[in-house]
Amino acid sequence: MTTVPDAPVPPTGPAHPAASAVRAARRRDRRVYTRSHPVLFALLAATRRRPVARIGGTVLVHGTEPCRQALTRVPLDRAAPGTTGGAARELSAGGLLFDQEGAGHRAARRTLADDLGAAGVERLRPVWRDVLARRLAPLGAGRDVDLVPLARELAGATVHALLRTTGDPEGIAKAAAEAAAAAVRGHLPGPRPPGTARAAAAATARLEALLAPDRPGGEPEPALRAILAVAAVNTTVAALPRAAAWCADARLWEQAADDRLRPALVAELVRVTAPSPLLPRVAAADADLDGCPVRSGDRLILVARHAARAHDRLPDALCPAPHAVAQLVFGAGPHSCPGARLARAQLDDTLAALAPHRPTVRRARVDRGAALPGWRSLTVRACDGDRSREER
Ligand code: HEM
Repeated sequence: MTTVPDAPVPPTGPAHPAASAVRAARRRDRRVYTRSHPVLFALLAATRRRPVARIGGTVLVHGTEPCRQALTRVPLDRAAPGTTGGAARELSAGGLLFDQEGAGHRAARRTLADDLGAAGVERLRPVWRDVLARRLAPLGAGRDVDLVPLARELAGATVHALLRTTGDPEGIAKAAAEAAAAAVRGHLPGPRPPGTARAAAAATARLEALLAPDRPGGEPEPALRAILAVAAVNTTVAALPRAAAWCADARLWEQAADDRLRPALVAELVRVTAPSPLLPRVAAADADLDGCPVRSGDRLILVARHAARAHDRLPDALCPAPHAVAQLVFGAGPHSCPGARLARAQLDDTLAALAPHRPTVRRARVDRGAALPGWRSLTVRACDGDRSREER
């Protein structure tokens, strides 16, 4: 396995976490990659010194500016097999958003603008705050809490409220995870395991049934509902437990408890965890990325994790990375993530709810079968001082 050189550790002091704690946090988080995709992680680590590197017909894009250019200036074949748009198309018979262009794409985005804008997020907030209050209550009694099922219920409940579905939150989250995992299995290099297409179709049918609107003619249309559910659930279930583990291991709870610092901490933790670390795309025309010629039909692997400097710039709420760099974990240009505001609000509330307990990680198990790198289970417990504080 290629060793990854250590990133410089920021200065330590009362406001800064200890260097050893930061290293421990980074070591644990890296396991979600090294245990699930060790060869891919090694390949990406080995090539990342070059902003753009070609291997046969595949162009690996690690640099911040080349990644942004690939998303905003290079014409892309949004429906090509092996891309996110191609997967979305298979997932929901025709797909939506990821594989769309032009006026149709703009119209689909407009249908989300209200629900995922500032007012929409505030409307949804009580839904996940309720899940957090209920699921985190055992911490106050000194009991363990697994943050992965919590994240699943939180994501499922949000989708349930956003799309006003008949299906229950946990069923939606499970079906969305299965649909994404089946779609990703079908797109990994090498032969497709037998039954992959059938499994993906069955998982999608289960999801679409759960997402049926709770009243006739409910908006948006079924394909968009499925895409939204898959995009929202899988990123949230990957992101929340990883960010909480970082906070616990690097002892960042003081910053998490501070209302003024927490937004910067949230942006930094989303940046260093880069929950959607690779964006597979296909070029639709010849182009140039940082001096590397790109030909129409070339496969582009945009390494959002490296473009956002997750690997070599540690999270620092006191001196955060520029917004344009941190924002790259949500993509760039017309297809950039419409759920970014919602995702940040959910992480902000999760850290605020955890902070008074100063939890530490008791057990962590990597999910090797998930669509995105993450934990299968991440159990935390309030630090010893927490109970005595509550009892006083
Ligand atoms: C930390 C959480 C999240 C991360 C890291 C993330 C990341 C991304 C990325 C990288 C893209 C592709 C952008 C591009 O191609 O330029 C994307 C697209 C998308 N995301 Fe997210 N996302 C997150 C949460 C969410 C949530 C909560 C929702 C829905 C409520 C959502 C809905 C979508 C949709 C619908 C698209 C497709 C947009 C389009 O093609 O126009 N995401 N996301």
